[in-house]
Amino acid sequence: MAVTPDSTRWEALAAVRTRGDVGDGIASVLALLGRPDVISFAGGFPDPETFPRERIAALVQEFAGEGEQSAFQYAPTRGLAGPLDAFADRLETLQGRRPAEDELVITSGAIEALELIGKSFLDPGDLVVVEGPTYLGAIQAFRSFEAALAGVPLAGDGLDVDELERRLKDGLRPKLLYTIPDHQNPAGVSLAAERRAPLVELARHYGFLIVEDVAYRELGFADDALPSLWSLGPDVVVQAGTTSKTFCPGVRLGWAVGPAEVSARLVDAKQLTDQCAGALGQRLFEESARRGWIDEQLARSRVLYRRKGERLLAALERSLPEGARWTTPKGGFFSWLTLPGVDAVDLARRAVERGVAIIPGTLFFPDGRGGDTVRLSFSLVDEERIDDGIDRLGSLL
Ligand SMILES: Cc1ncc(COP(=O)(O)O)c(C=O)c1O
Repeated sequence: MAVTPDSTRWEALAAVRTRGDVGDGIASVLALLGRPDVISFAGGFPDPETFPRERIAALVQEFAGEGEQSAFQYAPTRGLAGPLDAFADRLETLQGRRPAEDELVITSGAIEALELIGKSFLDPGDLVVVEGPTYLGAIQAFRSFEAALAGVPLAGDGLDVDELERRLKDGLRPKLLYTIPDHQNPAGVSLAAERRAPLVELARHYGFLIVEDVAYRELGFADDALPSLWSLGPDVVVQAGTTSKTFCPGVRLGWAVGPAEVSARLVDAKQLTDQCAGALGQRLFEESARRGWIDEQLARSRVLYRRKGERLLAALERSLPEGARWTTPKGGFFSWLTLPGVDAVDLARRAVERGVAIIPGTLFFPDGRGGDTVRLSFSLVDEERIDDGIDRLGSLL
């Protein structure tokens, strides 16, 4: 009887759509994070210093002591009434539009919102337009439904909407357009105010759905948020949001808000994944939002990330050679480096040997471009180690 080597034992049984490298990209990022000796500009994780540990502990005790049922029970698929109301309040305050009850769904993180959108709208071969570069998790989520991905470049102020329009006129027909308009991952840029309404108009004209990812929207360094795409076009935009960066990722929570018809499909899809986002997390977020704790936490987080971001930019200015370019984030976690003539994959390998972790930019393109680009994340790295890390990187260039 033939013996199959262990590593390939289940390969033949695995679904075809899983046989690509789905998962490998993020896994390689996470692998770098575990090494304490490395100064890591790799993963886009929030700083644990921002996590409200004591308040969460007090709330759990409060729920237990008061005999609360809902926090410990299954929840309706769309979400518990109180938390839905708290999310709707925040959307109204922060984005100027209150969703109707049938437009909002509480999800297990933004990544689940993307998964539900893919599951509900993508057949194999369907076209999704993404920014080049874009969030790796989104590339992987859409690919897992065997979608075809087309990248439209970013300009200094976000998605190049003129280029998108040219391609649409030339016959490009996406079902979905995925965009991160605020403090983008990985490039750290934001879509200019004057390009937002025209983008929404393109969706109306050409009949595609905009998937707006607002993961970093509330983490601007200043108080000057631009109108969200969803607030400008609630008829053609589904927004995916997360509490991972504003509360903590240990509570896997997010939202999807969009046209009622779209929202209903996401609820149907969610019944076949986790049925409901964890009720305990929903109640923790609701209470934290109602007591003003989320806003307090956010205010502190924004100061912290601004300080780290500024320190990174100053270090880049000091240590990188002539010709290197980088973006100047006004919020979020990232700056994007362009190093003409440099092979970023090779640089990343040499950097790890010098005790610095960076992510080569190619990973964030759907089509292998960006060979001379690098994502630097300043959110998790120790403030005091930023200068040293960038010095080391500079010495390799
Ligand atoms: C742009 C973007 N969207 C979504 C997510 C995932 O968020 P969540 O933790 O809610 O799944 C991230 C996390 O890094 C992100 O950068």
